[in-house]
Amino acid sequence: MNDPLRRSAASATLALVLCISPAFAGLMRKHKTAPAPPPPATPHASVQLEDKKLNDRIDALLEQMTLTEKIGQLTQYTGGSTITGPTGEKLDFDAMLAKGEIGSLFNVTGAKETNHYQHIAMEGSRLHIPLLFGLDVIHGHRTTFPVPLALAASFDPDVVQQACRVAATEARRDGINWVFSPMVDISRDARWGRIVESAGEDPYLGSAMARAYIRGYQQGDLSKPDSVAASVKHFAAYGAAEAGRDYNTTDMSEIRLRQVYLPPYQAAVDEGAATVMSAFNALNGVPASANAFTLTKILRKEWGFDGLVVSDYGAVGELMKHGIAGDGATAAQKALTAGVDMDMESNLYHSRLPGLVESGQVPTSVVDEAVRRVLRVKFAMGLFEHPYTDENLPPYEPTPEKRELAKKAAEESFVLLKNEAVPGVGRLLPLASDLKSVALIGPLADDADDMLGSWGAQGDARNTNTLRGALADKLGNKLTYVKGTDILSTDTGGFAAAVTAAKNADLVILALGEAGGMTGEATSRAHLSLPGNQEQLMEQVVAAGKPVVLVLFDGRPTAIPWAATHVPAILEAWFPGIEAGPALLSVLTGEVSPSGKLPVEFPYSVGQEPLYLAQLPTGRPAGEADLSQPPTGSEEKYLSRYIDSPNAPIYPFGWGLSYGQFTYTNIKIDHSGGTRKDVGEITVGVDVKNISSVPGAEVAQLYLHNTVASVSQPVRELKGFHRILLQPGQTQHIDFKLHYDDLAFYNADVKHVVEPGTFDVFVGGSSRADKAGSFTVLE
Ligand code: BGC
Repeated sequence: MNDPLRRSAASATLALVLCISPAFAGLMRKHKTAPAPPPPATPHASVQLEDKKLNDRIDALLEQMTLTEKIGQLTQYTGGSTITGPTGEKLDFDAMLAKGEIGSLFNVTGAKETNHYQHIAMEGSRLHIPLLFGLDVIHGHRTTFPVPLALAASFDPDVVQQACRVAATEARRDGINWVFSPMVDISRDARWGRIVESAGEDPYLGSAMARAYIRGYQQGDLSKPDSVAASVKHFAAYGAAEAGRDYNTTDMSEIRLRQVYLPPYQAAVDEGAATVMSAFNALNGVPASANAFTLTKILRKEWGFDGLVVSDYGAVGELMKHGIAGDGATAAQKALTAGVDMDMESNLYHSRLPGLVESGQVPTSVVDEAVRRVLRVKFAMGLFEHPYTDENLPPYEPTPEKRELAKKAAEESFVLLKNEAVPGVGRLLPLASDLKSVALIGPLADDADDMLGSWGAQGDARNTNTLRGALADKLGNKLTYVKGTDILSTDTGGFAAAVTAAKNADLVILALGEAGGMTGEATSRAHLSLPGNQEQLMEQVVAAGKPVVLVLFDGRPTAIPWAATHVPAILEAWFPGIEAGPALLSVLTGEVSPSGKLPVEFPYSVGQEPLYLAQLPTGRPAGEADLSQPPTGSEEKYLSRYIDSPNAPIYPFGWGLSYGQFTYTNIKIDHSGGTRKDVGEITVGVDVKNISSVPGAEVAQLYLHNTVASVSQPVRELKGFHRILLQPGQTQHIDFKLHYDDLAFYNADVKHVVEPGTFDVFVGGSSRADKAGSFTVLE
């Protein structure tokens, strides 16, 4: 009953003291008597256009600015300490800053380093406009938390918000006031390496996570000294890159764009996100960084976004390679007029906009509006009053409290994919307390670096506790460790020692998977199986005949059909961050019961990608056909199916086992006759009981299916979840509340409507939940 492998064959339709740098002391003195400092910043829950005081300050400053200074505010360059893209010509930032030619730097870290540049901007330049310092703080700054895909698996927005709070505080200590996070691109294709930076495939979960990131970074008040401005990226639909190949084009209907891909960006904007990053990809032929439809019509006009839009790295320059601009001037013109306020690293606003404005090709008003947006964020953050970072604060290494949070986040993110009883032994997890010998085998068992995943910010592998370290502390000389192979190796020289260790042990723990650097930007994979010869190693270790627990480390769904059949216990650990070892130890030993749920489906093979739950029905659904076998007759053949693979995933969205066992009873759907115009509130109540003898957290999920509508609707869509902790025997009542937006969809006229009709309701611990009932929306 707990094995989706079997069920999948049958059910295919489930789907951021002044310390003066001596080099600029002269410049500073020169400007010490410059204009009186502006009044203190007013706290802003979000950057609001209608805030008169803020706008008056912006207008007053704008009036004093030369064209060069204005364009400077629209210009961002990468510094040298971190490489996150192609590096071009080294520019003289000091000289440019003194002339007001730069509005923001990124990839410069450290209080001293950022203060150096900030002093020039604040004291060495004519108008004393502070710099924004950006960095990819993606899943923690110094304290590395699990990768975003793993954080999503926790289905715990609170833990994500707390992690972002820690990240923001640490980033500010390092001079960073702007984080290029969250990435909220819906990711339904495991080949795409950036799936690791996402919350996975689902707009509802993605939106909940997007809001949590913004709350954590910005605290509803950008002016707080430990808030950072967030950048929602990559706008828009970057996650739908064709064939999962990074930077590739995306092409989709407006219905799908609005229904599936836009909601998380909008959720982040609604939560007050200060900035948005425009994407690399073309969307329906128009590159996202020159796309007036998404950047102006939707983002600015429909959603009322009043913060700043920064291009992705070099994306303005890439408009030429996309073939929509024959030269740099056209690229700059197209990007700016479409709605990209700041040019990251292309150097085209800096070099081409002066000519474009002087010739009248770009109206000054367009430049002014972009400058306003940049200044608005700087004023709202209080940077004019507090531009510097204290260089004398004590070091910011992960404290025990932060480690505790990193451990909790990791524990909640682990997904127990399988835990089948082994004849004569029983279930392998939690590990029996009387094990006399355990063999720990695999390239990721003692790999501190890869535990951090991609986008490590200031994470330091020396802060990482590995699985081997944690197990060795617990088991002492009962533990034998053999690496067996390297992540990408073809050398089988280490296999014999691994097999011998397995034979001599009561139980084997295999630690296999991807390298952290195989995920993130520019890491698309055409193969989704375990890299190198790890599959072979696994097969030989399993053949040694001892019970095997597989712990998988990766940043995407790995295709593990062989393991799913032959390995009795599989724990998906993702890249868990610095507390990898302790978190794994507590879950493997049962101190904490696993509670993560899959935010993305796990395929049998790469051929099934893109693979996701909320598929649209087809006219020839595979229904109850046995998809584990090739079709035999026409009845089985002419269906929407593969001839050599099940349609369904090995492990579906929302899937994840526990050491506890939960029942869902007394499901009541309370819907008092809502109509399509006035849906009211629909309450789906359920009692969730832990019928096991161990405490455990459960993520109760609600899915809907709109059975008949003018536009085909997904076979199942997540519309609610609650993470609850239940003691043995404890029952908790949960109410899921559904409103207009939960029932609405985009019709053929791309209008967001609710139509009358019947909605099926599914409630349970995964997307495979049984139907709980239905309700009807009246005309
Ligand atoms: C990535 C962005 C990142 C930027 C700055 C780009 O290559 O796509 O996600 O924020 O670089 O490092």
